[in-house]
Amino acid sequence: MFDVDKIRSDFPILNRHINGQGLVYLDNAASSQKPQVVIDAISKVYSEEYANVHRGIHYLSMKATENFENARSEVSNYLKSKSDQQIVFTKNATEAINLVAASFGETEINEGDEIILSVLEHHSNIVPWHFIRERKKAIIKWVDIDSKGLIDLEKLKSLISPRTKIISITHMSNVLGTVQPIKDIIDLAHEYNIPVLIDGTQGAVHNPIDVMDLDVDFYVLTGHKLYGPSGIGVLYAKSDYLQNMKPFQGGGEMIDEVTKENVTYASGPQKFEAGTPPIAQAIGLGEAIKYVNHIGLDEIHKHEQSITDYARNKLMDIDGLSFLLEPSQSRGIFSFTMSGSHPHDISTIIDKKGIAIRAGSHCAEPLLQTFGMTSTCRASIAMYNNKKDIDNLCESLLYCKKFFS
Ligand SMILES: Cc1ncc(COP(=O)(O)O)c(C=O)c1O
Repeated sequence: MFDVDKIRSDFPILNRHINGQGLVYLDNAASSQKPQVVIDAISKVYSEEYANVHRGIHYLSMKATENFENARSEVSNYLKSKSDQQIVFTKNATEAINLVAASFGETEINEGDEIILSVLEHHSNIVPWHFIRERKKAIIKWVDIDSKGLIDLEKLKSLISPRTKIISITHMSNVLGTVQPIKDIIDLAHEYNIPVLIDGTQGAVHNPIDVMDLDVDFYVLTGHKLYGPSGIGVLYAKSDYLQNMKPFQGGGEMIDEVTKENVTYASGPQKFEAGTPPIAQAIGLGEAIKYVNHIGLDEIHKHEQSITDYARNKLMDIDGLSFLLEPSQSRGIFSFTMSGSHPHDISTIIDKKGIAIRAGSHCAEPLLQTFGMTSTCRASIAMYNNKKDIDNLCESLLYCKKFFS
């Protein structure tokens, strides 16, 4: 049975007081808080089991390597990947997308070729493609969303051409909370032999993932939103791509042999993991995934859905509050404005009541431009949020309204 009070007690930071008030943390789409087991796992790495990985043959190096590789297997199982050799550790989702844009783009994208993105994308899934657009004189095409905040498949189909080299799309919008029809998008792209990158930074937190069933070519996530530490991200890729793509960065770890005249590369994920990797961070992510699995993904998602429904109804009752998009399809993320007050002022005032939300463009300027906006408030839910958090948020928004009236 999912017990939100028990879950809350696993996250020590939730006992904190901010500005004299109990913390109400509703900025989970930016980064989530960490359960004690993750904090302990990281502490154990440094206090008992730390050494560099993949290079020493002494006890600690072998132990650290074993723990690091076990974390890779944990991620692989979470994504239901065929092999843990398809899991590349990066420093975050941003680096994982940069890796694909640079390495795939280097050989596969040439002048006049096309990349399709959606207007929903986070800057992390835009800027790396702009780099390729500039470097290769490629073209970025943009697919719109429909009135429900979902990628319009007909429009997507109409953008595909013989020059389309990749479609790179978010699994779940970090602004609207809408979960995209990624299976349909991948099936459509594959009809034209076009590979698909799915940015699962938000999606992997709130949805079960099965990369083999999806038949996705690249899937990216970030550790710090999945209750793990910052400094660790993941790229899942089909083996053929890992084999054929050029390395992203050069250095130790990623080589097979180096001579004065030549270099050959390691195979598997190591080819893309130049230098000392984020060891404790990967192990922390592995522990976070174990924790999520222990609570149960289905249970977590059911709870988050019930808090989402509760929040939607309560927020809708606030006079003067407008959602960026009617949030019937939102999975735990609400973007809104309130008449008479700027989002930054709202966030600052409710912070005085211990409530953490995000205000700004949420690194999704093209999406906000679509709505003719530059800034919204965003409240986002995690497994440890309860109805009281939502009541506190709504009360403080009403206070804000009075304050500015
Ligand atoms: C949808 C989406 N993609 C990518 C990112 C970038 O994640 P990171 O900063 O961990 O690389 C974020 C972060 O907010 C996001 O929400």
